[in-house]
Amino acid sequence: MRVLVLHLDADSMAPPEIEDSILTAKQIGETLTKRGHLVKLAPFEPDYARFAERVAKAEPDIVFNMVEHALGQDQLSAVAPAYLEQMGLRYTGGGPAAIVATCDKPFAKEIMRAAGLPTPDWATGPHWKGLNPRRKYIVKSSTEDASLGLDDGAVVIGADVPIRARKCAQDYGGRWFAEAYVDGREFNISIMEDDGKLRVLPIAEIEFVDWKPNKPRIVGYACKWDDDSEESKGSVRTFGLEKENPELAAELIRLTRESFKLFGNRGFARVDFRVDRKGNPLILEVNPNPSLDWDAGFAAACAKVGYDYGDTLEKIIDAALK
Ligand SMILES: Nc1ncnc2c1ncn2[C@@H]1O[C@H](COP(=O)(O)OP(=O)(O)O)[C@@H](O)[C@H]1O
Ligand SMILES: [Mg+2]
Repeated sequence: MRVLVLHLDADSMAPPEIEDSILTAKQIGETLTKRGHLVKLAPFEPDYARFAERVAKAEPDIVFNMVEHALGQDQLSAVAPAYLEQMGLRYTGGGPAAIVATCDKPFAKEIMRAAGLPTPDWATGPHWKGLNPRRKYIVKSSTEDASLGLDDGAVVIGADVPIRARKCAQDYGGRWFAEAYVDGREFNISIMEDDGKLRVLPIAEIEFVDWKPNKPRIVGYACKWDDDSEESKGSVRTFGLEKENPELAAELIRLTRESFKLFGNRGFARVDFRVDRKGNPLILEVNPNPSLDWDAGFAAACAKVGYDYGDTLEKIIDAALK
């Protein structure tokens, strides 16, 4: 099959999440070539006419979409699948609407609440209606992923939310909001269309094993992107909740399926959860095109069911062709 791996365009100052994504695109290309596909790689181009020319030249049967960020924003990565649809091409992963909706976290939370899916309380500026001055919150970007701006200072009491949000907006631009901090376990659950059936993969937990006592237990920017950081070294991905607590696992699996369907996801996705001290699961976010780094959560969950990296990529392509 002729596969075009469409990836991010990097400049020389690429932050680690963009660099990683381009390396992953190359890895995908190499893996699919070894599997006998005719693979080409091309960077995303924001101008439609030039984009269409570049993509059409490769004559792809399928476009492997690795565009996770466009025109400086995660949400605008929806432009890539929108252009591909305009061209009448098939592509892997989420469509434009799923990307735009899930990439706006407060908007996605409104939708989840309306659908009866549990997500932590939240408040948005500039009026911060409903903010409890004494409760703990995490101040997050409304539209950027990759744990942008998430360091130890991101967890604050309600009274300090406006100051933190203003500082983040100055430093990074964009909108910021406050979500009730859930002090509890963290689960990342991968889901895929496998042979025409929606399949929830083994549940991964992020455990904060070697962590300073009063340090917020969050997967912040350093934890995600700097392998040498104390956060990265102090946290591990583990599996086994299905055996340890079948009831909680069943509920997490149900919520993963429901949230996948709610946003019209396609192919594959990952849902991030926290579970509070009383055992209530709360959805933090739904990721339509989660990282496909070979060592990231999605590939790790696939490995648990016996799919190697190449199998995983083929499954994602198959789902896009169904
Ligand atoms: N409400 C919350 N309570 C506790 N931790 C949170 C909360 N929201 C986010 N976090 C922490 O921050 C990380 C990144 O947040 P998330 O909403 O998943 O955004 P991103 O798109 O950057 O992955 C999570 O994996 C979790 O460790
Ligand atoms: Mg996340």
